[in-house]
Amino acid sequence: MPNAYISGTGFYVPPRRVTNDDLVKQYGVETTNEWILQRTGIEERRFAEEGVRTSDLGLAAAEKAIARAGIAKTDLDMIIFATLSPDHCFPGSGVYLQKKLGLCEGPNAKFVPALDVRNQCSGFMYSLGTAVSMVKSGACKHVLVVGAEVHSAAIDLSTRGRGVSSLFGDGAGACIVSATEEDRGIRSWKLGADGRGADALSQKIWDIGKRPFMPQDEQGRGIVEPEMMWAQMQGKLVFKNAVERMLGVLMEVCLDSGCTGEQIDLFCFHQANLRINQYIQEALKIPDDKIVHNIQRYGNTTAATIPILLAEAEESGKLRRGMKVAMIAFGSGFTWGGAIADW
Ligand code: ACO
Repeated sequence: MPNAYISGTGFYVPPRRVTNDDLVKQYGVETTNEWILQRTGIEERRFAEEGVRTSDLGLAAAEKAIARAGIAKTDLDMIIFATLSPDHCFPGSGVYLQKKLGLCEGPNAKFVPALDVRNQCSGFMYSLGTAVSMVKSGACKHVLVVGAEVHSAAIDLSTRGRGVSSLFGDGAGACIVSATEEDRGIRSWKLGADGRGADALSQKIWDIGKRPFMPQDEQGRGIVEPEMMWAQMQGKLVFKNAVERMLGVLMEVCLDSGCTGEQIDLFCFHQANLRINQYIQEALKIPDDKIVHNIQRYGNTTAATIPILLAEAEESGKLRRGMKVAMIAFGSGFTWGGAIADW
């Protein structure tokens, strides 16, 4: 059985910076820089321009990851696309990305499978676990895993929505998961879910239990109430579960791969709230130079967060060949995941 390792990483964030003060000045949100900064650590986030879709951000990140892996697009055997803000309700964003990569045209057209993963902030971890399994089984040699989000179009940028909208930003990260005979790669990965938390963070614009799936006016136009249109979150419940589950899954992957916390060279935690990560960091006494954060600059980029962290860390030289890396994430569902990689 081959090992599965991350052979290339890439990321892309839209150029437009939106500071906490910009939320007040440009959107009229009743908040303050101090409130957001103190509770979450967020200073600014990126917002894509109108017309830019999630698969566009995913494309920019994917092209960089493919180049860094030193492979051709046609070497890909599968695309896995994790997002909670897909281009459309269906089909998934993976097929749009496949088309934009140019895989469907010309004599070298390659109609690889494209799988969308809807596991929110742990979407990348679910996708990574799936990609590793596909590679280790021998079904694929190179799998493109993309996490991408355009949150800015689908958050309530009024005071009513400030408890959610001030947290999220746009961006994309990508990894190529490749087969190798070398002694390296993903040593352990674990995923989990607790459906009792399903309603604690959700957006129910589509309710298939209703006939039709959303209320209509007399002309047959859909009526979307604000509480259906925008994500709803029980912040404190999510916070508490995030700390417990992220700590738990980190222990699990360490035990499974036979390593101690001290042996890990770099920790990449999902970036939902800097306070969550600082709590875990303090509990485990992780030194500052072994952990990377980007929530200050990007906010919560959901499925894109961990691949962006990995790509930034590689680009800056903080993540190098031979290092042992821990990745953990928690998100809506509740869902969570972790992995240990020998880079
Ligand atoms: N500016 C000013 N006031 C605000 C803001 C804001 N941006 N947001 C909320 N408030 C107000 C609320 O209206 C509330 O006012 P009230 O008491 O008059 O009703 C007050 O602040 C307290 O609100 P809480 O939501 O209770 O604030 P809390 O201290 O819990 O912090 C936060 C909120 C930062 C969202 C925190 O709960 C959190 O980080 N939760 C976890 C988020 C997370 O981990 N998400 C997971 C992944 S996301 C995914 O999977 C998509």
